[in-house]
Amino acid sequence: MKKITIAIDGHSSCGKSTMAKDLARELGYIYIDTGAMYRAVTLYALNQGLLTERGIDEEGLRRQMDQIMITFVINPEKGRPDTYLNGECVEDRIRTMEVSKHVSQVAALGFVREAMVDLQRLMGEAKGVIMDGRDIGTVVFPDAELKVFVTASAEIRAQRRYDELKAKGEACNYDEILQNVLERDRLDSTRKISPLRKADDAIVLDNSHMTIEEQKLWLMERVEEVLGNK
Ligand code: DC
Repeated sequence: MKKITIAIDGHSSCGKSTMAKDLARELGYIYIDTGAMYRAVTLYALNQGLLTERGIDEEGLRRQMDQIMITFVINPEKGRPDTYLNGECVEDRIRTMEVSKHVSQVAALGFVREAMVDLQRLMGEAKGVIMDGRDIGTVVFPDAELKVFVTASAEIRAQRRYDELKAKGEACNYDEILQNVLERDRLDSTRKISPLRKADDAIVLDNSHMTIEEQKLWLMERVEEVLGNK
C-alpha cells in the first residue's frame, strides 16, 4: 500500500499526540513527537545548568548541541515510542511542569530549530510517518499528503493536562496549568522563527467536544480519503 506523510500541528495539550500515536499503530507507521524533541533539549539545558530562572545560556547550549542525541524507542508494554536523551529514557521527565515552563523559550532558538528540523526530515524521509508538532505542515514537510491542524479551547486543554498529571500522581494546580497553556500559545504563535500557524492546505479539527474515539475515526476517514479508499 502507498505510504504517505501525515503532518499534525496545533496548540499545546490538545490531544494531538494521543490520536497520532494510535493512528500510527493502526497503520504501522512511525510516529514522531517533535514536541518531545524540544522538551528533551530543554531537559538537557536544565540538567547542564544552562537554563535557570535567570535565563538561558544560549552560547553554551549552541556549543553543546552536537552532544545532544535524541532517539525514540518503542515501549513494548505501551506499544508507543518513548523518548531517549543520550541513551537514557526521559519520557516522564520531559513532561514535568519545570520542562513545560521553559520549553517555548528553547524552541524559539534558531539553532535549536535547525538541528531538530534536520533530524525530523531524516526520521521521516522514508514516508510512512506521522509527525506531530507546530511547524510540520508549514516547514518540516510542506509537501505532506495529509495535514491536520488540531485545536480546542484553552480551558479544555488545561483540564486535560491537569487530569493527565493528576493521574501520574504529580502535584498540580489547574490555574497554573491554564496560565502555562495560554503563555505557550502566545510564545509559540508570536515567535519569529517558524511560528505556530495553520498551513493553507491543512484541515482544521476542533476537538473541544469530541471523545478520543471520535477523533480517531475522524482522522482515519481523512487518511482513507487521501489514500483513495473512499
Ligand atoms: O507538543 P508539546 O506541548 O510537547 O511541545 C512542547 C513545546 O515545543 C511547545 O511549547 C512548542 C514547541 N514545539 C515547537 O516549537 N515545534 C514543534 N514542531 C513542536 C513543539
